[in-house]
Parts: sequence; C-alpha cells; structure tokens
Amino acid sequence: MKVYESNDLAGTEEVAREIAQKVKNGGFLALYGGMGAGKTSFVRGLVKALCPECLDLVHSPTFAIVNEYRGKELAIFHFDLYRLTDEEDLYSTGFYDYAEQGGLVITEWSELFESSIPKDALKLTIESLGDTKRRFTLC
Ligand SMILES: Nc1ncnc2c1ncn2[C@@H]1O[C@H](COP(=O)(O)OP(=O)(O)O)[C@@H](O)[C@H]1O
Ligand SMILES: [Mg+2]
Repeated sequence: MKVYESNDLAGTEEVAREIAQKVKNGGFLALYGGMGAGKTSFVRGLVKALCPECLDLVHSPTFAIVNEYRGKELAIFHFDLYRLTDEEDLYSTGFYDYAEQGGLVITEWSELFESSIPKDALKLTIESLGDTKRRFTLC
C-alpha cells in the first residue's frame, strides 16, 4: 500500500505522473471515491503523462461510458461505471473485450462493479480531505 497526498490540481497531476510509471505497460487501474473526489482529474493527469497527444479528449465519460485514448505506446480505455445498472449492461459496453486488448483499463466508480474488477488490478482510492486537499491510497 502507498499513500500520496495532493493540495491542489497540480498536486494531483504530480501524483498521477508517479502512478503513471506503474501502469505504463498496461493493466487495470480501478478508481474508488465519490462524486468530486477527483477521479477524472486524476485520469487527465495520467493521460497527460502517458499520452500527451490524447489530452484534449479527457472528460468524464459518463455519457459515453468509455473513452479511448490511443497513444503511440499505449491504448487507454477510460470507463465510468456510474450509469450502468447491471452486469449485462457492463458486458455490452465491450468491457471484457477491452480488458483483453493489452492496453490500460481505468474504471471510475469501481465500487459499483466490485466483482467485475480483476483480482490483480491496482486499486486507487481518492478521498477528499477538504476543498482542494486529496488523499490517494494505492493498493
Ligand atoms: N487536489 C485536487 N485534485 C483533484 N480535483 C480537485 C482538487 N482540488 C479541487 N479539485 C476539484 O474537484 C473536482 C474534481 O472533479 P472530478 O475530477 O470530475 O471528480 P470525479 O471524477 O471524482 O467526480 C474538480 O472540480 C476539481 O477542480
Ligand atoms: Mg468523473
């Protein structure tokens, strides 16, 4: 387990840059934390580090369910599970196909589909400690 703290958006970007080193070859990163915790902001920092040319595309994928950022080195698949109702819904987004493509899968609202998160996923919990202070716990 590793704990990071951030005092502002720039700090969150720095945390994302550090964690980017651990996922730069792909895998699964499950994000946990409520509305406004900073999940999408963190993903923006991660994409900035891993695929700077993709940065324009990063926003909360709530409506699209999944956003794809295809970098030269790595494809990133960014899911927001908030609006999905059940396992069948998740299946129909192509979630399980993405996971097999060898890129990096990131999920916002992982707590809603805990049983679908791979056992070997990295898990990052983001907590708000105040207006702009955030704690990141990576397991
Ligand atoms: N240190 C910080 N890290 C991330 N977001 C922060 C921070 N301080 C303030 N914020 C604000 O909190 C909000 C986080 O929103 P967002 O990243 O969309 O969260 P989520 O995806 O978890 O709902 C944004 O309005 C952002 O500007
Ligand atoms: Mg979000």
